Amino acid sequence: MPILTGKARKAGVLGWPVAHSRSPRLHGFWLERHRIDGCYLPLPVRPDRFADAVKALADLGFAGANVTIPHKEAAFAVCDAVDPSARRAGAVNTLVFRDGRIEGSNTDGWGFLESVREGAGSGWRSEAGPAVVLGAGGAARAVAAALLDAGCPRVTLVNRTPARAEALARDLGGPVAVAERPPLEDAALLVNTTSLGMQGQPPLHLDLVPLPAAAVVADIVYVPLETGLLAAARARGLRAVDGLGMLLHQARPGFAAWFGVEPAVDAELRAFVAHDIPRTLAAAG
Ligand code: ATR
Repeated sequence: MPILTGKARKAGVLGWPVAHSRSPRLHGFWLERHRIDGCYLPLPVRPDRFADAVKALADLGFAGANVTIPHKEAAFAVCDAVDPSARRAGAVNTLVFRDGRIEGSNTDGWGFLESVREGAGSGWRSEAGPAVVLGAGGAARAVAAALLDAGCPRVTLVNRTPARAEALARDLGGPVAVAERPPLEDAALLVNTTSLGMQGQPPLHLDLVPLPAAAVVADIVYVPLETGLLAAARARGLRAVDGLGMLLHQARPGFAAWFGVEPAVDAELRAFVAHDIPRTLAAAG
């Protein structure tokens, strides 16, 4: 833990609860690596106190904050200005306090794309072919919007509750379809944004045989790191991208804005943040 001066820069993560958040460990790693006079704190705040808490942080000289469940929509409402990523998502995960104003952005979609670019290796481009997105919640919205904005020719949403996927498709606009079964035959990317496959949740059952050999399979679930979906993709010889990369990359813009250093995502950071994340689920029974 560094010794702070009176000029220390301050940021943190607002959530309720926030004890499970890995963001303090992640930002703390970068602060130490770059020997920055600054801190990043877990900031638990009840939903009915959220707006007042944000204004208090600004008054206290914080540089900004991350926002997690359940405050991302409330954070959108509290901002004086939001960028296109936040407007597209209707939600904010990164706040920057600048010149007496509260600015909001949403780095989840960008973080996802960076993670796939890194994890899938050279040559992956969102323009390369259609994507299939499983789910229709906030994470699906961020992922689908980022893909569309990056030139993906078609995004197909597949969700347990089709009406939710239809509503999201209407909202997103552009080349978005809704299907009952994932059209895997011509997919360049398959993404799971549901909670299926997460520790404590039911598994995701999907036959990956129809996917082309060049397809990339990504999961935003990162507990465990190697979900059943990713294990099945690797067994088929497909490129697989785990959910930890999205968590790491979405943090970069906030850190750069608050602390003035562009941080890197590398193997050392991954290992540090993943230290307590199981690689696979313990075998049942
Ligand atoms: P987030 O904001 O993290 O995306 P969310 O809005 O709660 O979270 O969305 C969770 C997603 O996982 C939804 O697409 C949900 O499907 P529904 O819209 O039908 O609820 C999906 N999901 C969660 N549990 C599921 C299950 N047991 N089977 C299928 N889909 C599930």
